Amino acid sequence: MKSSEQRTQMIIEEFSRHFKQSPTLLAVGPGRVNLIGEHTDYNDGFVLPVAIKRDIRIALRPRPDRRVKVYSLEYDDWYEFSLDNLAYNQDALWTNYVMGVAWVLQELGIKLAGFDGVISGNVPRASGLSSSAALEVATATALLAASDQSDALDGVQIALAAQRAENQFVGVNCGIMDQYISVLGQEGQALLIDCRSLEYQLVPVPKEAALVIGNTKASRSLAGSAYNERRRQCEEGVALLQTVLPGVRALRDVSSDQLEEHKGLLPEVVYRRCRHVVSENERVLQAVEALRSNDLTTMGRLMNASHSSLAEDYEVSSAALDAMVEAMRSAGGCYGARLTGAGFGGCAIALVQPGREQAVADAIFEKYPKAANIWPEVYISQAGPGAQLIKL
Ligand code: GLA
Repeated sequence: MKSSEQRTQMIIEEFSRHFKQSPTLLAVGPGRVNLIGEHTDYNDGFVLPVAIKRDIRIALRPRPDRRVKVYSLEYDDWYEFSLDNLAYNQDALWTNYVMGVAWVLQELGIKLAGFDGVISGNVPRASGLSSSAALEVATATALLAASDQSDALDGVQIALAAQRAENQFVGVNCGIMDQYISVLGQEGQALLIDCRSLEYQLVPVPKEAALVIGNTKASRSLAGSAYNERRRQCEEGVALLQTVLPGVRALRDVSSDQLEEHKGLLPEVVYRRCRHVVSENERVLQAVEALRSNDLTTMGRLMNASHSSLAEDYEVSSAALDAMVEAMRSAGGCYGARLTGAGFGGCAIALVQPGREQAVADAIFEKYPKAANIWPEVYISQAGPGAQLIKL
């Protein structure tokens, strides 16, 4: 893998080649991996992600007019638009994220200027590591800087703007986790995010724990429709529980005991969906305690329990993800493993003893292809920083 400096050098050279001038700024938005707390963010719950050291970066130079002209290195694709004419374009793939962020910032009353930019990323696409949030956050950072408005929004407001771009412009009904951690991540730290108050606490990743990410490379075609269905089922659960628990605004407010007591009110599937969310919120808080006391055995057990709950109660795992998690756990030195992100494909994460990363990777390459008939990818990553703006 190219180093961060090599990538920056390459993107600067590409900019100069395409625009015959030098870029003046570099905006960076990282991808993320969630340690635990899946499908809890849109239930006002808790999540515990880290930003990873893979990102989308934009080298840019502000323009005096209101045009944005961008070139994507990986897609080898140009796109140009005016900030006065922003509309979703079915044929534009990645640029809808760029236009969507511009649209939201202007909706918020921020006066934007255009820029020339070259975009390049190494967050695997459609793999559950939030390449779209990385692009949105890099774009917001770029647009605000190009417009001399870097102080117009704080980190949480940037995350909310990026989420709104995805919800209202791109049309994906995601929660706040991905954009939040992409903006606010910190080196060496996981963030315990309270998705209701939008406050966070830092939770250091212990030095005795390394992260190995296994990409199943399995298609996630079901993800969109099933994601929305899960959200509806959670809302249905809340509406039914509110008839006896009037203080409940979201599944965040329901304890396991309360859910058991009122189980009879819920259709069986809705009950299982709720049981996942309620128990997952409890696991996140236990995981924070485990990490803070360096109890990695408990942390691994909680990750394994999270995967079972996602597979059996929330039904968002897949044969490929189950095979990946099994392969990871089979290696010595793996504390625990679970699917990460929305599910149905994409990636799993394992917490492993430092020095055992390669052994876990070897186990994945040996066992996963036999079980799933797909060749996987493995990424070893540390918790990295959130969004950055670098003057070139
Ligand atoms: C996707 C969404 C997030 C979150 C996860 C599941 O990554 O974008 O908001 O809901 O799925 O935890």
